Amino acid sequence: MKNKLVGASPALSEIEQEIDCAARSDAKVLVTGESGVGKDIVARLIHQRSRRTGSFVTINCAGVPDSLMESELFGHVRGSFTGAYRDKRGWLDQAQDGTIFMDEVGEMSLRMQALLLRFLENGEIQRVGSDRVQTAGNVRVVVATNRNLVERVADKTFREDLYYRLNVVAISIPPLRERREEIPVLVDHFIRKFNAQYGRTVDVPPETLRAFVEYQWPGNIRELENAVKRIVVLGSARPVHIEIVNNLNGARTAGPASVVALEARPNADAPISLKDIARQAARDAERVAIKEVLDRVHWNRAKAARLLQISYKALLYKIVQCGLVVHDTDKKDDKITEFMAS
Ligand SMILES: Nc1ncnc2c1ncn2[C@@H]1O[C@H](COP(=O)(O)OP(=O)(O)O)[C@@H](O)[C@H]1O
Ligand SMILES: [Mg+2]
Repeated sequence: MKNKLVGASPALSEIEQEIDCAARSDAKVLVTGESGVGKDIVARLIHQRSRRTGSFVTINCAGVPDSLMESELFGHVRGSFTGAYRDKRGWLDQAQDGTIFMDEVGEMSLRMQALLLRFLENGEIQRVGSDRVQTAGNVRVVVATNRNLVERVADKTFREDLYYRLNVVAISIPPLRERREEIPVLVDHFIRKFNAQYGRTVDVPPETLRAFVEYQWPGNIRELENAVKRIVVLGSARPVHIEIVNNLNGARTAGPASVVALEARPNADAPISLKDIARQAARDAERVAIKEVLDRVHWNRAKAARLLQISYKALLYKIVQCGLVVHDTDKKDDKITEFMAS
């Protein structure tokens, strides 16, 4: 994977300098920023520019149960739990002379935080099921989070001592909407990349670029990259353009479904059903994915069902449920009308 920060803004040149500075030392680095701003790339660049000879090892701390996390991080010995058929080195061990990148560190449980802190303080690794303590040699630690760790420290879900251990060099990446001057450069970069990848010559028309520059990009550069990719895959900017403009006009959801659901509450004390929020978010995500696949296969529903790995019938149901417009170009295929009538 080629790592390069594309864009020209004062914020980005500052980040470039911080990366260079961090690469020259072994200090721990805390990278913060919303999802999709480029935390991953920054961590990789720090490693690459550091001339460390070992590997760059990534571990994602979100949603991993403690037991698994501990054995992944520190390793385990044979027979220490069901399924532990042989000794296994942990990630910390594998990152010797390299860098360990702990992503979404704000999600770590308090127990794992305590284990991590012990490692950071004493450089000790204890494999699960072993009574021997090894010393980890030379591992560089970079962590990232999209959470506000200061707030987490205040509400006691993140250890203060760990926070200070990690926050030696802090690199904070601003959201894309605060450095909009980068959008045209990024669009140009991604359009070249995807045109080359898919053997296309698709353009982003100036009016779409203008809409892009105005849009809020809650998903930051990742969302922008996906938008450009869809334009190339679909061979036209129209659907993406319409979506962005609708979002700009607030005609459709202006942010993640969860945010919308919260904003739509009549008063602050009204109950919020997390289940409903999750259901709605899942439906929104499905809708976008289904629409994209259908457009890609020119509404050949049998093909779309195969690509989406659901049954034909389930797809028809979802099309109706998601309120997708039926493009009934294929006259022979009237199952969907049948389905809707039944
Ligand atoms: N400055 C940039 N130039 C080019 N691509 C970028 C830049 N910042 C982020 N990206 C791309 O955007 C996507 C999201 O970046 P990533 O580092 O995974 O974000 P995060 O880890 O903050 O969620 C990746 O595909 C990445 O390559
Ligand atoms: Mg990431």
